[in-house]
Amino acid sequence: MAYFECIHLGKTYKTPTGNAVIVQDFNLTIEKGEFVCIIGHSGCGKSTVLSMVAGLNDISDGTVVLGEREINGAGPDRGVVFQAPCLLPWMTAFDNVMLGVDQVYYHATREERRQIANYYLAMVGLAGSMHKRPAELSGGMRQRVGLARAFALSPRMLLLDEPFGMLDKLTKFELQQVLLDLWNRERLTAMMVTHDVDEAIYLADRIIMMTNGPAAGIGDILSIKFERPRDRSEIMNTELYYEYRDHLIHFLEERASVRPALAG
Ligand SMILES: Nc1ncnc2c1ncn2[C@@H]1O[C@H](COP(=O)(O)OP(=O)(O)O)[C@@H](O)[C@H]1O
Ligand SMILES: [Mg+2]
Repeated sequence: MAYFECIHLGKTYKTPTGNAVIVQDFNLTIEKGEFVCIIGHSGCGKSTVLSMVAGLNDISDGTVVLGEREINGAGPDRGVVFQAPCLLPWMTAFDNVMLGVDQVYYHATREERRQIANYYLAMVGLAGSMHKRPAELSGGMRQRVGLARAFALSPRMLLLDEPFGMLDKLTKFELQQVLLDLWNRERLTAMMVTHDVDEAIYLADRIIMMTNGPAAGIGDILSIKFERPRDRSEIMNTELYYEYRDHLIHFLEERASVRPALAG
């Protein structure tokens, strides 16, 4: 059995005008230690899939299996990173990370737990600012805290929903690097939603292309064969990079919403 599996996963909302089938028959297996990105047009159902896997949204149809167990609700075995991390504003970055660490490593001593939080905050480059509160941190730094918090749980799976979508390009590049460095060390099984094809190629072992809704599913899957650790400028200097990129853009363009014809 695969480490992670979505089996006939589906989501239907009941609306006043009838059932809205958002995701239908979404089937995906992910190997342990694999990094998978999901791309697709806005509103197709990417976050719906991810939130069902996270246990934050009820599953209408099918099942999700992680580590031979069917998931049932949210839990610290899945580290979730959203576009903006929900940090408690009155607590320092360190204490925010400790909240999760205390929950998962309840059997460890306080000193051991502090070391874990300390280690991951240093790994994301916050050694000098871990005792600041969220309001004193930039958006990029707050997302570093979000990554540290997710990795510090040593989750069975990492779930990321457009984690760098609100950051400027330079900060986004830095954070992609932070994420890859951490991932290279720990090789957590990861599922990440993004609409940025370059981000997906840089990070993923496989890119899952979702069809447009309603009743969205998997349209195509692309394996990214670049060796790891990857160097951004090195891979961008290969022809293969542009083959991958064209493949993804072609998929998305074929499904782009039809634009009104120009008058005249
Ligand atoms: N409570 C709801 N009732 C009906 N439709 C919903 C509800 N929540 C989300 N949707 C619809 O589900 C679709 C997929 O949303 P989402 O998964 O957030 O898309 P993506 O992350 O790919 O942009 C959207 O078209 C949205 O309108
Ligand atoms: Mg979304």
